[in-house]
Amino acid sequence: MTDKIAIIGFGNIANAIITPLLDKKLIQPENVYCVVNTEKSLENIKETYKHNINVYKSSSKDAKIIWDCQVKLLSIKPQHLKDISEAKNIQTKDNLLVSILAGVSIDRLNQKFPNHKCVRVVTNIPITVGKGLTGIAWGERITEDQKQFTKKLFENTSKIYEFTEDYLDIFLALTSSAPAIIALIIESLSDGGLSGGLPKILSEELVMEMILGTVSLIKEKKITTSELKNLVTSPGGTTISALRVLEKKSIRSALIESIVSASNRSKEFR
Ligand SMILES: NC(=O)c1ccc[n+]([C@@H]2O[C@H](COP(=O)([O-])OP(=O)(O)OC[C@H]3O[C@@H](n4cnc5c(N)ncnc54)[C@H](OP(=O)(O)O)[C@@H]3O)[C@@H](O)[C@H]2O)c1
Repeated sequence: MTDKIAIIGFGNIANAIITPLLDKKLIQPENVYCVVNTEKSLENIKETYKHNINVYKSSSKDAKIIWDCQVKLLSIKPQHLKDISEAKNIQTKDNLLVSILAGVSIDRLNQKFPNHKCVRVVTNIPITVGKGLTGIAWGERITEDQKQFTKKLFENTSKIYEFTEDYLDIFLALTSSAPAIIALIIESLSDGGLSGGLPKILSEELVMEMILGTVSLIKEKKITTSELKNLVTSPGGTTISALRVLEKKSIRSALIESIVSASNRSKEFR
């Protein structure tokens, strides 16, 4: 496959995907062609980005060069998809388009980019610290070479899971939306600590360390979540008292419904 890659939309997530590849010299900066929408972003990338990539404003004539790259990473917000049109005079038939747009189906991508083989990817914000989760659904006729290239884009910064497209909405809810749910839980538990008289910063630190420790315990000791719950819940003790409050407030149902709702919302974008 070609070494050149076009990045359509160079925001937070594209940056998180591409920068480690440039850092590790797996892609050369002169082979990266990216387009952004505003002068502000263009100048910002030119002045502050540590790698000397090619960058264009989407409305400029020069931006058409991206259509000469066989591989494209589509990383704009879904609502801006209507502003992108495939160039008419595309030469090669072996073009690959990797989309990270929430909820936008492979069918819709195929209609929009008929001269590309399209792959739909869901990744999540921890990719920015190299701890992402990435779900991939392959479109039709994707070659083995194209699959390997797509995986290379994400494997440095995330664990990769391959799915049929049907599962991507629930994967998105559970991995891409849920970091906000976890942030809310951290914030709320910390507020509990604050209510008990602890300083906010200490309270938040304790909650985060407790979560990391709890996850490590479950993984390292290979115990189930029910086993862990039983381990820390003694008759008439503090933990059962806390859990009773959560059961009364239907916290399980609220969390389950939140994931189902995010998944349904993702389906609506199609
Ligand atoms: N944020 C998350 O947690 C997350 C996680 C996984 C996946 N995603 C998906 O990743 C995608 C990008 O999200 P993000 O958070 O990285 O967004 P972002 O930071 O807002 O970046 C969007 C980029 O698209 C550019 N853009 C807008 N219109 C354009 C156009 N017509 N032509 C070319 N470029 C254009 C923007 O340029 P300007 O700056 O000049 O406007 C910006 O560089 C979204 O589709 C989202 O669904 C997001």
